[in-house]
Amino acid sequence: MDISREEIAEFLDRKIFRLISEVADRMQLDCYLIGGSVRDFFLYRPSKDIDIVAVGKGIELAKAVASALGPRTKLTVFKNFGTAQLKYKDFEIEFVGARKESYTHDSRNPIVEDGTLEDDQKRRDFTINAMAFCLNGDRFGELLDPFNGLQDLQDLIIRTPLDPDITFSDDPLRMMRAVRFASQLGFDIYPETFDAIARNSERIKIISKERITDELNKIILSPKPSVGFILLEKTGLLEIIFPELLALKGAETKEGVGHKDNFYHTLAVLDNISLKTDNLWLRWSALLHDIAKPVTKRWDNKLGWTFHNHNYVGEKMVPKIFGRMKLPLNEKMKYTQKMVSMHMRPMQLVEEEVTDSAIRRLLFDAGDDIDDLMTLCEADITSKNAEKVRRHLQNFKIVRRKLMEIEEKDRVRNFQPPVDGNEIMEIFGLGPGREVGLLKSAIKEAILDGEIPNERQAAYDYLIRKANELGLTPMEK
Ligand code: CTP
Repeated sequence: MDISREEIAEFLDRKIFRLISEVADRMQLDCYLIGGSVRDFFLYRPSKDIDIVAVGKGIELAKAVASALGPRTKLTVFKNFGTAQLKYKDFEIEFVGARKESYTHDSRNPIVEDGTLEDDQKRRDFTINAMAFCLNGDRFGELLDPFNGLQDLQDLIIRTPLDPDITFSDDPLRMMRAVRFASQLGFDIYPETFDAIARNSERIKIISKERITDELNKIILSPKPSVGFILLEKTGLLEIIFPELLALKGAETKEGVGHKDNFYHTLAVLDNISLKTDNLWLRWSALLHDIAKPVTKRWDNKLGWTFHNHNYVGEKMVPKIFGRMKLPLNEKMKYTQKMVSMHMRPMQLVEEEVTDSAIRRLLFDAGDDIDDLMTLCEADITSKNAEKVRRHLQNFKIVRRKLMEIEEKDRVRNFQPPVDGNEIMEIFGLGPGREVGLLKSAIKEAILDGEIPNERQAAYDYLIRKANELGLTPMEK
């Protein structure tokens, strides 16, 4: 690593590190900056979490630093875990005493036996996360790296400091973390570490769904998420945490007719969309767009392989998957369902001679999510044939242009009926009921079909005509 002393000095030359240093020196405590922020410094990544480890009294150091920062400093002490957190400007600073036993945030039986710095370092997850900068007096800025984390950073390797069976048994979530860091940073998992994940994958079952999902979301948000998903598959973790996704794997052939491997197709779609968006839910939609293909797969003597209605069946699978994974069951989930259910619609518009009314219906059904839907459809083109890809993308460009033209003209994307239910009741002296619904939807359909423009007077005249057919006449004023 070509990082100079000056760069280290500049990184550590912040008021907060100087203050911690002074307080620790005064208390005669050895104290270090450790973990993610040291790793991220070497990777030139910004980091808002600061972990400080003190040999001896972590909580006492935190209290002394908080009082040196002033009475308004918010300090939270977790006595059971032997940790304390304080907020300073944008930073979250966590203090902990060096431990002999495993360092985990959520361990049910936290062990807080005091240890040396090296005891603490070797109980951390990966060599790249076990590096520390000393913050004391003359040693300020000295790097302590007993497991060659810096070398692993350079070689792009995720490796445990100890025998990986021990590291993963201390906290099985670290198996997910290994995959997540590999995906986020574009690193490889060291062979022994990888084998240990494969050997211990079942142990992930003792970890809470929330923590697993947190890591899964970070994989999904990584620059090329397929890296993480392929590792999850190869280690056996995917089978346990996301069997529906694994079920997409494989391609069957019958009478010489095959279908694509939907697992690798899905990952290609996810990688494609990740080049265009950081929206977690749009990325989830890409991951789930074909999720019902295995359960809807049929062989048809005339058509070959079919996946009839896989979009609608997929839409129904979303709440089950979100529920199990403790993902939010709110509008984010509804959005994902909508994307899954509609993911083939724009493609259908390309295939036929597209009418304005088909475009209007798509705009109406997709509403404000139309751009995201188009992004998903474009990402869904994963053919290896460059000419085919070019043609599809060109066709989607045309669809996008038509969408814009029609929206400009007809404003159906956020459709508000030009004559609403209350007015209909007033005009005809009706109470709420079937007829009002009928008339309302007749107006909407006429606008979407292009029979009448999306304007008040036209809608009103149309309403009177339709009502007449039902034997209704407007009330006298
Ligand atoms: N750590 C660990 N085992 C875990 C979680 C964390 O050993 N299961 C240690 C690592 O040394 C890690 C540090 O605690 O660097 C801080 O953990 P955390 O804030 O969760 O992760 P970061 O490494 O900072 O990375 P990120 O912020 O991307 O989650």
